[in-house]
Amino acid sequence: MDADGITAVPRTPRVVLGVSGGIAAYKAAEVLRGLTESGCDVTVVPTPAALNFVGAATWSALSGKPVSASVWDDVDRVPHVRLGQQAEVILVAPATADLMARAAHGMADDLLTSVLLTARCPVVLAPAMHTEMWEHPATRQNVALLRERGVIVLEPSVGRLTGADSGPGRLPEPSALVAAVHDVLRRDGARADLTGMRIVVSAGGTRESWDPVRFIGNVSSGRQGVELARTALSRGARVTLVAAHMDVDPPAGAEVVRVSSAEQMRVAMHDAMPGADIVVMAAAVADFRPSEVGSHKFKRSETGASLTVDLVQNPDILLELVHKRGSAGSPMIVGFAAETGDAAHSVLELAREKLVRKGCDLLVVNDVSDGRAFGQPDNEVVVIGQDGSSWHVPLSGKAAIADAIWDVALRLRS
Ligand code: CTP
Repeated sequence: MDADGITAVPRTPRVVLGVSGGIAAYKAAEVLRGLTESGCDVTVVPTPAALNFVGAATWSALSGKPVSASVWDDVDRVPHVRLGQQAEVILVAPATADLMARAAHGMADDLLTSVLLTARCPVVLAPAMHTEMWEHPATRQNVALLRERGVIVLEPSVGRLTGADSGPGRLPEPSALVAAVHDVLRRDGARADLTGMRIVVSAGGTRESWDPVRFIGNVSSGRQGVELARTALSRGARVTLVAAHMDVDPPAGAEVVRVSSAEQMRVAMHDAMPGADIVVMAAAVADFRPSEVGSHKFKRSETGASLTVDLVQNPDILLELVHKRGSAGSPMIVGFAAETGDAAHSVLELAREKLVRKGCDLLVVNDVSDGRAFGQPDNEVVVIGQDGSSWHVPLSGKAAIADAIWDVALRLRS
């Protein structure tokens, strides 16, 4: 209660959940549940085709609201204009190839496409369809057009599709879609200022095999890289996440490339860099790997009472990417530096020296003395630039740190 004795009403964001006619429509019921349980006021707008998969009664019962697919119902209340104007975010899940084609071309032949035309809030589309449809040039062009206009079109997940087939085209998990809606709501109408950009982020810790069951690894959780991917998505970017070993799930909508070793990460980063606007090396890459990898599990009897493992240096991926880019200055390349300082040098002195050595545009500096940063939910960083500029980001959650890094990157680009 405040001083006047009035209890503050918790904010109830208005969300429109569009559902188009694909088999994944059944998963949208779980998305709806997740949205209402996390405090959203949800109006479901299915397409007529979606009602062949899940009936209006299900949407109505779960949302507690009447449900219509047509502009001809409830005409006196002009629902296509009212819903579009009042929504704070629209999520269409699943978004079929047909729905995206109609939305891209401004058609308004049912209630959902009419709402999409009247809406001025952020719109998130979660495509789901067969791989062939997703990869068809017509769909690629429609997706590109929608993204150009600021619509957030998530990448579908890769996995089992309708039948036994599998590939890109699967709807991301309902919980990840609910999280994506809240990511956009948290931005509270702020401009999707990474729209049109393609961003590549590496995250997690690499593992360097020594034999089939043992490896050299590190304590990276992947949290900061995942938050960079998540916030970039909610700011409108297309994101490729090159994910080594992580304790957390990747966000909905990123194209995820799974790797294990530094060598695999190196190949994946070289493959992903062409066409990118910003590349961020947030991964903890093992500096060394065993010089020989055993084909069988080493026995204690083979190694004796003590053991020496010969290690060789891994390639410096960040350095390679900077060299590969050459003098073109594009993409912008951001590195991370985990430093503890030493008797002769402060953390920042070592970081400035590393920035020169690596040649990237920005370096995000973490002080990792006393177990700080790794695996923790909060972090404090300094972002330093080649021109000597620096930005201090005080102790914040890793999502806020990620947003601050994008702010600095955007400022530098402009
Ligand atoms: N990095 C990389 N390839 C490696 C090692 C590190 O691309 N083999 C990247 C990291 O992802 C990070 C940056 O380089 O963006 C700095 O990593 P860090 O571990 O702090 O530095 P190192 O290069 O390992 O240097 P040093 O061990 O001397 O601190």
